[in-house]
Amino acid sequence: MKGIVFTEFLEMVEDVFSPDVADAIIEHANLPSGGVYTAVGTYDHSEMVRLVTALSRETGTEVDDLLEVFGKYLFGRFRALYPDFFTGVDSAFGFLEHVEDYIHVEVRKLYPDAELPTFDTRRLDSERLVMEYSSARPFAHLANGLIHGCLESFGETAEVDFEDLSHGEDTHTRFTLRLVDNG
Ligand code: HEM
Repeated sequence: MKGIVFTEFLEMVEDVFSPDVADAIIEHANLPSGGVYTAVGTYDHSEMVRLVTALSRETGTEVDDLLEVFGKYLFGRFRALYPDFFTGVDSAFGFLEHVEDYIHVEVRKLYPDAELPTFDTRRLDSERLVMEYSSARPFAHLANGLIHGCLESFGETAEVDFEDLSHGEDTHTRFTLRLVDNG
């Protein structure tokens, strides 16, 4: 997993919880890297699992909920860090349906060793979008947070249904988004 995900995670912990909590989880997580990350470095994704697990122990909040909080935060950071990816995109569905064939393709150009999931995305109609997440890594709840962050970032509201279809070691999750009419 790229260092940028770790540096953003630790910043979120400092902001949402406190610098002391960030120090404590680094100490308790028993990390091969020692908790020192650079944005362009690459680290085993199990370090993220260890950090989130340590944060869960420290705060009493479930791991899945913490990954969602982080995903939401991370989307806001991506929007600030990579404004070019948002040029000409005017809706959350318009953004989400191009994560696989555009966003993560560009991410791979920037970081050739990035470990990215696969999304199979289809629009059922103007209100409903299905995104199927597949990965060898257990970050479906991070994806859920990113999806919610994306909706928020475009000022939209949707119900997001989460179906775990995993079998074996891989993670496979179907997200069904249905826009909620605010008018
Ligand atoms: C501007 C938008 C985005 C950028 C710049 C971006 C970039 C990245 C980067 C740098 C990684 C780390 C790769 C690695 O650790 O080696 C990543 C992983 C990931 N991305 Fe994106 N991403 C974006 C949008 C999204 C969205 C909207 C979703 C969800 C719908 C998503 C889902 C994920 C997930 C779940 C991972 C973790 C790896 C895995 O699950 O296998 N990303 N992305």
